[in-house]
Amino acid sequence: MCGIIGYCGNNGKASSIIFEGLKKMEYRGYDSSGVAMLSGDGLVVKKGVGTLEEVNKKYKLDKMPGYMGIGHTRWATHGGVTQINTHPHCDCKNQIAVIHNGIVDNYQELRDDLIKKGHHLISETDTEVIPHKLEDEMKMGRSLEEAVMHVAPRLHGSYAFLAISTKEPNKIVGTRKGSPLVVGLGDHKAFAASDSLALSGLIDQLYLLGDGETAVLTPDKTTFYDHTGREIHKKFIKPDVMWGESEKGGYDYFMLKEIMEQPKTLIEATNQDEENFTSIALDILRADHVIVTACGSSRYAALVGRYLISSVGKKFAEVVMASEFQYFADSVDKNTLVLAVSQSGETLDVIEGVQLAHKAGAKIVSIINRPQSLLGELSHHVIYLNCGPEIGVCATKSFLNQVAVFYLLAFSMVHCFDMAVDNIRKVGKQVSKVIDWNREEINRICERYYKKNDFYFIARGINFAIASEGALKLKEISYIHAEGMPAGELKHGTLSLIEEGTPVLAICPGDYTYRETLSNAMEAKSRGAKIIAVSDENNEIYDHWIRLPKVHELLYPIVAVVPLQLLAYYMAIKRGHNPDMPRNLAKSVTVK
Ligand code: F6R
Repeated sequence: MCGIIGYCGNNGKASSIIFEGLKKMEYRGYDSSGVAMLSGDGLVVKKGVGTLEEVNKKYKLDKMPGYMGIGHTRWATHGGVTQINTHPHCDCKNQIAVIHNGIVDNYQELRDDLIKKGHHLISETDTEVIPHKLEDEMKMGRSLEEAVMHVAPRLHGSYAFLAISTKEPNKIVGTRKGSPLVVGLGDHKAFAASDSLALSGLIDQLYLLGDGETAVLTPDKTTFYDHTGREIHKKFIKPDVMWGESEKGGYDYFMLKEIMEQPKTLIEATNQDEENFTSIALDILRADHVIVTACGSSRYAALVGRYLISSVGKKFAEVVMASEFQYFADSVDKNTLVLAVSQSGETLDVIEGVQLAHKAGAKIVSIINRPQSLLGELSHHVIYLNCGPEIGVCATKSFLNQVAVFYLLAFSMVHCFDMAVDNIRKVGKQVSKVIDWNREEINRICERYYKKNDFYFIARGINFAIASEGALKLKEISYIHAEGMPAGELKHGTLSLIEEGTPVLAICPGDYTYRETLSNAMEAKSRGAKIIAVSDENNEIYDHWIRLPKVHELLYPIVAVVPLQLLAYYMAIKRGHNPDMPRNLAKSVTVK
């Protein structure tokens, strides 16, 4: 979480370039933002609480004078959402400014020590210790980069930070451990940012900074150092043009755009290297244990994946919530295969679990969307989702492509990769139909139930995880409490919460789960529930029918989840919320 960017160049529009970069990283945090610029007048910092647009309206971040600077968009961890806690943070003399993504675990100890030495710290953040530590180092005669390389090893936890100083006004210094930081170079301009997306269209060369490495950026020369302070030569990669696209394309919100492009992005999921899939499928079959680890929506996709691997590949796989993975690490060994699923490839819980498994000798296979991610670096094999940048905080198209990739993987286990590719390509057309058929009915459902406080989502078998995913989407952006559960579990407790008018959404396609799910929906209806059915068959017990096309039973998750994404989206709009920026959340969860 938090997006950081630094820019120096021979271009007078430095602050507007920084502001545009922040806009592209707002998905990483949007509770407050700020910019520090170096100009003839020294260091100027402007920052405030609210979305980037709101802060810009008030402080004109994009019009600040100066030739170089740093900018930050925040998702608060240490310290409330206040102007004082907003980055950049400065030293006692306002000569050094720092922006940071990550958490300095030992900040309290460092802070106490700094205060004892007479430093004046004003915020509640962990970050503020960094500029003050740099101040001490520079007082001893160290350059900014020497100061950064001295301070960084003393910070426990994870960080990517950028520092500028009026004493060395020609450079930006950045370093990282555990949190992402890339460096991009163009014609007489240099950038550092949390995400290469912020630099799209601006650079010709992209460098991925490794853990413990430091970069010193000037408009004409960028130098890299390893963790010992030795200068190193790094290889650059060509920036990926596909990741340049981050516009709303005429839609009001990214989330709607991303839902609507799913028929197309699903096809991209099938553009895979068959050999890679075959080799991973063999590894899965050979492994003693297969553990799938993920968080949130990615975990629900993994639950569908587990079902596919079991029913097609005849192999049992366990899905472990990434934040709980460490507690199972003792049973991981070299005969274990860990499948890590993460859109961002950055989620700290996933990364830490994978690091433990790696140490224990397990084989690591990742399913990731973002190229050049930390998770990718840790993996023996990577499968990419190919769905392009997903900006809306809700996972939509990445979820669909994760399910599609699991489908391909399961069929690779029985040597039917080509057939699986054909099936996924065909189901793309069915996804378009689901959208066309149901938008009006979904809007009617929102009109009818938008004042409700609770929703229940039920399904069985392979569709159960879709019920959970639908509930997660609804609560995440419309702020309505929602629970997703296996339909058979309803009577073991939750049924007591059903009363007159409680909406119960039942996913009951005409497959082997149909009869039993229908009967559970009836049990709820007898207690007063209103039944919203997601099915290819209509039934008199439904109060509302969201129509699905008939597809093969293993493909229902793909067509059933799309109307649930639309339901959450329209419900958020109806209740007056911005679906792209749900409160308290951010897209990349890089804290524990
Ligand atoms: C929900 C959502 C989150 C993410 C979760 C994992 O709509 O987007 O639950 O799925 O934070 O993120 P990744 O997949 O990046 O590891």
